[in-house]
Amino acid sequence: MESSEQKGQKPRPPPGPLPAHVAIIMDGNGRWAQQKSLPRVLGHREGARSVRRIVTYAREIGIRYLTLYAFSTENWGRPELEVGALMMLLRDYLEDERPTILKNNIKLSTIGATERLPGYVRDPLVELMRDSSDNTGMTLTLALSYSGREEITRATRALAEQVARGELKPESITADMVANRLDTAGMPDPDLLIRTSGELRISNFMLWQLAYTELYITQTLWPDFDESTLNEALRAYQGRTRRFGKTTEQVLPPDASRPAPTR
Ligand code: FPP
Repeated sequence: MESSEQKGQKPRPPPGPLPAHVAIIMDGNGRWAQQKSLPRVLGHREGARSVRRIVTYAREIGIRYLTLYAFSTENWGRPELEVGALMMLLRDYLEDERPTILKNNIKLSTIGATERLPGYVRDPLVELMRDSSDNTGMTLTLALSYSGREEITRATRALAEQVARGELKPESITADMVANRLDTAGMPDPDLLIRTSGELRISNFMLWQLAYTELYITQTLWPDFDESTLNEALRAYQGRTRRFGKTTEQVLPPDASRPAPTR
């Protein structure tokens, strides 16, 4: 933890360039509850508190895009009681945070099959997306009823339909055309993916978009994730050299502290 935070001062991000787009797999709500002998839904309730905290902080420090994996397609298969509790938490979040989101110039967007959401979630969601659509401070994207494979399948289907209509030749399909048909069209790929609670997997999240994203896995459970844990992830990110398949010498400017490449 940072010394300023230890002294109870306002948390500050590490100095240096911040990722433009941070995506988070918020995991560990169930384990958090289990460790405290509480029902799982109370873990999700604490998780929703972390969401409020992190959205506020990310906006404050100037993250341009924050994408949160809030509910996967596979999560529909959880016990009915848990799915219902998660839907209620989403609705409460959208209703309670509406003034804050609007006041802080945050644009709300979604990825995933949101038509599957119950009306009591979809209605406030659609309304807030509409009312925040001109905001420019930060784009907050909630992945809801989301599956990376389904998203790519939908994009593929859209391209296939264009081919079938004779509007497109298969050989002229490019990676950009695929990207433009994903739910994230127009959004930069994540620079940093954070996964909480220690699991070493992607879990069907942003399979296309994470191609060159830096990964940061923390043991911290999502309900315990706070400003200082995010700062740790940002610090780790700043220590990475992003090469995008090239060599270190190609991507780093000539630097006195490192020997010049010989060829
Ligand atoms: C994973 O923890 C988390 C989820 C499936 C849901 C995430 C939901 C929230 C953080 C709260 C509501 C969201 C918003 C945007 C208000 P898990 O239950 O899989 O944890 P476990 O692996 O420890 O069981």
